[in-house]
Amino acid sequence: MSGPVTSGPVVSGAAASAAVFRTRITELFGITHPILMGGMHHLGQSGLVAGVVNAGAMGFITPRSFDSLDDYRADLRRCRALTRGRPFGVNLTISRRPGWNRDAPAWIDIALEEGVRHFESAGTSPEEFLPRIHDGGAVLIHKCPSVRHALTAERIGVDAVALVGMEEGGHPGANQLPTFVNGAAALQRVKIPLVVGGGIGSGRQIAAALAMGADAVVMGSRFMVATEADMHVAVKQRIVELDENCSTTILGTLNNTWRVMVNETAREVQRLEAGGARTHEAFGDLILSSRTRERVYRGGHVEEGIVSLGPSGGFADAIEPAGVVVGRLMAEAGEAARAFVRGIVG
Ligand SMILES: Cc1cc2nc3c(=O)[nH]c(=O)nc-3n(C[C@H](O)[C@H](O)[C@H](O)COP(=O)(O)O)c2cc1C
Repeated sequence: MSGPVTSGPVVSGAAASAAVFRTRITELFGITHPILMGGMHHLGQSGLVAGVVNAGAMGFITPRSFDSLDDYRADLRRCRALTRGRPFGVNLTISRRPGWNRDAPAWIDIALEEGVRHFESAGTSPEEFLPRIHDGGAVLIHKCPSVRHALTAERIGVDAVALVGMEEGGHPGANQLPTFVNGAAALQRVKIPLVVGGGIGSGRQIAAALAMGADAVVMGSRFMVATEADMHVAVKQRIVELDENCSTTILGTLNNTWRVMVNETAREVQRLEAGGARTHEAFGDLILSSRTRERVYRGGHVEEGIVSLGPSGGFADAIEPAGVVVGRLMAEAGEAARAFVRGIVG
């Protein structure tokens, strides 16, 4: 996807603003700001990733977004050129479905060959892929929805964990706990660097997460409106217009909870669930990501497919370069943190 359906030229050269916070994650990832833009199916490509990376944050290219391994490698090369030596990462979304992880070893090998040294995994356990990543001299952060999963990830040797709450845009898992409960509970038990995410769309929330003890935040929905996101401008405009009530969940009845934008397709899926639909097939093409890609992301028909989105999308108030979003977030986080410190009386 490219050209006029997005909302402007790729803007990836914005300089990073000065560091405000130093954490174990900024050290581990070699980044200026404690913001990770998590993998985003169909959107986690070089333009958007380079936009956040050049602004001092971390972003992850999402291999499942590409039609072939060659296209994936070409995009890694493009990202490397756009980021000029800054570290960027690759997302490994590991599926429960048999046969769906066939390409995962190649995603890792190609990334390592292209100089990538940072991975984010999500979905099921990354255990079988960890030796390959570590042998290649890279680090892995595993994103998961519960303290139990985080402790398992720590035990098998991942380098960091990200705890997401039920507010997360996309697939937050069956967990019913919000980000700040999950995060605080994990901080009592997890020793490796810990990131929290889900529902975070403002600098105030970033400051709050760091004050709680998190080493960084992982965000997704807030970046969907970025100029560089390869998505029709009509969808970005819709997200800008929406507030924090922009999302709903579907497919919980199939044990596959998906937090998505409120639209006609989401309501239709909810009607089918209420009517007893209990298999993925029962929803026809309504829930297919290929439909979302064609009709919504490319076509701009905002009602016609399922769009991953969390309430943090409600903080998106303008279509602007990802680097500007990072800069605004960090300015607000710094201001909130300084106000907090000034308020300490003891
Ligand atoms: C459009 C979209 C697509 C996503 N696709 C993936 C994905 O393919 N793999 C993954 O690990 N996470 C995916 N996520 C989750 C994000 O990486 C991130 O964890 C999440 O967006 C954080 O919650 P937030 O949306 O409330 O900021 C997606 C999120 C969105 C909004």
